[in-house]
Amino acid sequence: MNYLIDDEIIERVRSSSDIVEIISQYITLKKTGSNYTGLCPFHSEKTPSFTVSPAKQFYHCFGCGEGGDVISFIMKEENLSFPEAVKLLADRLGIIIEEKDDPKSRELKKKKELIYKINKDAARFFYQSLYNNEMGLAYLKKRSIDKKTMNKFGIGFADSSWDSLYRHLINKGYAEKDLESAGLIIKRKDSSGFYDRFRNRIIFPIIDTNRKVLAFGGRIIDSSMPKYLNSPETSVFLKGNNLFGLNIVNQETDRSKIVLVEGYMDVISLYNNGINYCVASLGTAFTLNQAKILKKFNDEIYICYDSDLAGFKATDRAMDILKEEGINAKVILLPSGKDPDDFVSERGKKGFEELLKDSLNYIDFKIRYIKTKYNFNEVEGKIQFAKEMGKFLKEIDSPIERDVFLDKIVLETGISKEAILKEFSSKFNRMTYTEDKYIKNKYRNNKDKIIPVKNVLEPAHLKAEKCIIYLIAKNEKIFKKIKDKLSPEDFLNYECRELAEFIFSSYEENQIINLKELYTHFHEIEDIDDNKMMEILNQNINISEEDIDSLIEDLIETIIYSKLKHRRNEITSEISIFESKKDKNERDVERFKQLCIELLEIDRKMN
Ligand code: GTP
Ligand code: MN
Repeated sequence: MNYLIDDEIIERVRSSSDIVEIISQYITLKKTGSNYTGLCPFHSEKTPSFTVSPAKQFYHCFGCGEGGDVISFIMKEENLSFPEAVKLLADRLGIIIEEKDDPKSRELKKKKELIYKINKDAARFFYQSLYNNEMGLAYLKKRSIDKKTMNKFGIGFADSSWDSLYRHLINKGYAEKDLESAGLIIKRKDSSGFYDRFRNRIIFPIIDTNRKVLAFGGRIIDSSMPKYLNSPETSVFLKGNNLFGLNIVNQETDRSKIVLVEGYMDVISLYNNGINYCVASLGTAFTLNQAKILKKFNDEIYICYDSDLAGFKATDRAMDILKEEGINAKVILLPSGKDPDDFVSERGKKGFEELLKDSLNYIDFKIRYIKTKYNFNEVEGKIQFAKEMGKFLKEIDSPIERDVFLDKIVLETGISKEAILKEFSSKFNRMTYTEDKYIKNKYRNNKDKIIPVKNVLEPAHLKAEKCIIYLIAKNEKIFKKIKDKLSPEDFLNYECRELAEFIFSSYEENQIINLKELYTHFHEIEDIDDNKMMEILNQNINISEEDIDSLIEDLIETIIYSKLKHRRNEITSEISIFESKKDKNERDVERFKQLCIELLEIDRKMN
C-alpha cells in the first residue's frame, strides 16, 4: 500500500483514538491509579510492566522499553507501516483518508491499476480457452476437479500456440510494454517480437482478498519441464507476499482454522473435497510476510506439507517463522510420501478432518523432526538429541507443559529427568561451546560402553563458573565488568573458587595474568585436580563483542542463582533436622527463626 496521508488527518486519527480502548482490544488492562497496566505484548513476562497512560495517550513498558502512542502501538502489534496503521485506525473511526495528490504515487497507482486490468482480461481469456480445449478439460477430469471448483478458482488454460494471449490482448488495445511488465509476454532473444509466457498449461490465477488478479501459476499437462511456471515479480506481485487461496478463505470461511499447504493442486483438491480453508505458500519457502498476512486471519494455523524429508524441513522452518509472529502452529502429519491432494482424494473430507484433530503441537513436532536427525542406537545420539531439544524448553512458559515435555524426552531417550533438567537450566546456548566437542572426543573410542549420562551432562552453574573464570583470566576488561557483581566465594566449584581468588587478587595488585603461568602455579598445589584446571583454562569460547555483555549477565545470573539454590538446600536440610529434634532449646529456636528469615530472603531473590 502506498498511502501518503495528510498531517492533519494523522492528527485527527491520533486525537480521536482512545489509547486505552484500542490497546484493550489486544491485551487485558487493569486500572491502577490513574494509569492502566497489563502484560506487555512485545516481550514475554509474567508480571505486568506494561503501562498505558490515558492522560498522556502513551504506553510504555518498563520491562522491554517499548513505548509510544496509539499509532506506534498498532504498527508494532499489527506489523504495519505507519500509513497502514493510520489507515486501520481511521477505518475504525470512520475517518476517510484521501491520498495526497503526489505525482509519483499517482503514477505508480495508475500503473498498478493497469496491470490488474490486464491480468483480469488475461484470466478471462484463459478461462474461456479452457472450455475450448479438450486436453485441458481432460486433465482436470483425470484429477477429479469438478466444474464448481474450476469456476471458484477461475481455473483456465493456456493453449500451445506462441501468441494467442498476445494477440488477444493487443487486439484489446494494450501496449506490448504493459503486457511485458505484467509478466505475460516475453521478448524474443533476437528482438523480433514477443511470445506468450504460459503455453500448454492449466492456469491458476492468484487472486487477492480484494479480488484483484495478482499473477498466474501454470501447470504443464504432459511431462515437460518445468512442471509449474509462475508469473515473474511485477509491481503488483511480490513473491512471498501472497498466499494462493486466501481470497476463498476470506470469502467463505469463519477463519476459525486455516491450513497451510505447499501447492496449488493441494488447495484446489482439498476444496474440491469440501475443505475450503486452505492456502498455499507456493513452492518458495514460507516467508515472514506470509506469516504476517495469516496472523491477521487467525492466530492458530495448521501446516500440512508433503510427507517427505523436504516437507518436514519446510514444516520445521515454517513453524519457527509462525512462532516468531506469535502464531500457534500445528502440524497435520500425512502418511509417508503423500501430499494433501493424494490424501484427500483417497480418504475424503472425513479422513482429513480426523488427521487434523490429531495434529501435532510445536513440541511434539519438534521431537519427531529432531529425532530423525540423530542415531538413537548410540548414547551420543540421544544426548545430542536431548541437548537440541533443550533449546525449546525456554519457549514453554507453563510449568505443567514443561513437565509434560520433559517426560516426553525422558521417554524418548531414557536419560533421567534430573540430568535433562540440569542441562536445560543452562542459559547460554548461544555461544559456541567446546564442551560438545569434548564429549564427542571423550567417548568416541568407547562407543559400546554404556555411559552414565549424569556424568556427561554438566550442571549449568559449573559451565557458567568455568566460562567466567576463563573469560576474566584472559581479559581484564571483562574482569572489571564482573568484579562488583561476583566475589570468589560465589563459586561453588573448588577449582573455580581457587582460581577466582587468585585472579581477583592478582588484578587488584595490578598484575598481568598469563594462562600458562596460572596453570603452572596451580599444578604445584596438591589438592587441585589437574584435569579440571586444564578443562577450565583450555576452553575455546568464541563470542562477539556485541554479545559479550549479555553473555556475562547470563553467566552471573546462573552463578548467583546456583549459589542461592545451594544455600537454600543447606537451610532446608537444617530446618528439617530442627523439626525432627525432640528437645528444642532456646538457641535452637533462635537459629530456626534466623534460618526462616534467610530462607524467605533467598526465595525473594530467586524469584
Ligand atoms: P501436482 O504434481 O500437480 O500434484 O502438484 P504438487 O502440488 O503435488 O506439486 P509439488 O509438490 O511438486 O509442488 C508444490 C508447489 O511447488 C507447486 O504447487 C508449485 O507452486 C511449486 N513448484 C513445483 N514444481 C515447480 C517448478 O518446477 N517450478 C516452480 N516455479 N514451482 C514449482
Ligand atoms: Mn501433488
